[in-house]
Amino acid sequence: MNPVLAPSTHHAYNDVEIDPARGIVRKRYAQGSPVERRRRMLAERTALEEVPMYSSICAVPHVLDSRIENDNPVLVSSYVPHTETLAEALTERPAGTSSSALVNSARFIHAVNKRTNSRYAVPADLQQKLRDYSSKFEGSLEEGLYGRVQALADGLSRTPIAKTHGDLKPLNILLGDKDGSAAVIDWEHYNDRSESYDIATLYGNTSLLLHANGKLHEAVGIASALEPYMGASAEMFYANLAGRTLVEFSPAVGRGEYGDPARVVPYLNGMLHASLDAVERPVPLSRFSATLVDRYAGLAERR
Ligand SMILES: Nc1ncnc2c1ncn2[C@@H]1O[C@H](COP(=O)(O)OP(=O)(O)O)[C@@H](O)[C@H]1O
Ligand SMILES: [Mg+2]
Repeated sequence: MNPVLAPSTHHAYNDVEIDPARGIVRKRYAQGSPVERRRRMLAERTALEEVPMYSSICAVPHVLDSRIENDNPVLVSSYVPHTETLAEALTERPAGTSSSALVNSARFIHAVNKRTNSRYAVPADLQQKLRDYSSKFEGSLEEGLYGRVQALADGLSRTPIAKTHGDLKPLNILLGDKDGSAAVIDWEHYNDRSESYDIATLYGNTSLLLHANGKLHEAVGIASALEPYMGASAEMFYANLAGRTLVEFSPAVGRGEYGDPARVVPYLNGMLHASLDAVERPVPLSRFSATLVDRYAGLAERR
């Protein structure tokens, strides 16, 4: 059987060649400067080597080879057999079908995140994203949000720094055929960040995906399931959620990749608004989610 090219989850980001028959995946890092490409390959290789030591709840691919091919860094890793991605399961299956896999992924990533470096710092990565993306997408933000995001960035305090996956969205979680079995892939953004970055990414991206598919009401159950893994500081969780929400005000939304932008942009504004409120007065994630569902699910879904 010929290897197939995987549909990239980004535009012209990586070339991923999948060969299930031989059990291998070849990833060629195709975007950014040669230095950045090499950094991402090394980050992914390091993660696949380190992470299995921290927890065995979920699978990750094994590294088989890494090399530079015509200036392009390439990582060869083992193919993980799977039935579908968590993104497909969330959008195409009945509510709750994939919840044990989702919880296992969250537990697994939380175990990785708890391997802090016993180091406290202002999360520079989050601070930069809040500043850059609020400027970049100022035109899409509701009145007053730009100033609040800038103030949040300026006021971020020191927090425990942890090992994080960096792109923990449902597309990067593969489901096995055993109930609850999951593998986490795409570790090229593996790096030190504030500890709740990954779970905030998972919740934010999942709820956006559900909203885009007219299933936002299912987000409350997911929020309850993720609540134990929010990390020690709820304020920092919601600061991270604000950052992840801003990043999603992306050209992809404008191109309609999440459905009608006229529906998605108000939802993103609502999630940003609620996250900023929750930084000041933290609430449990399930309550946070229920409030958003009340405001944004009804109209579109009852139609
Ligand atoms: N080890 C693997 N086993 C099975 N499928 C994989 C594996 N690695 C990648 N894939 C498939 O290739 C796609 C793209 O790989 P990924 O590492 O997520 O790259 P990208 O950065 O382009 O998202 C994934 O969404 C998945 O469908
Ligand atoms: Mg991916």
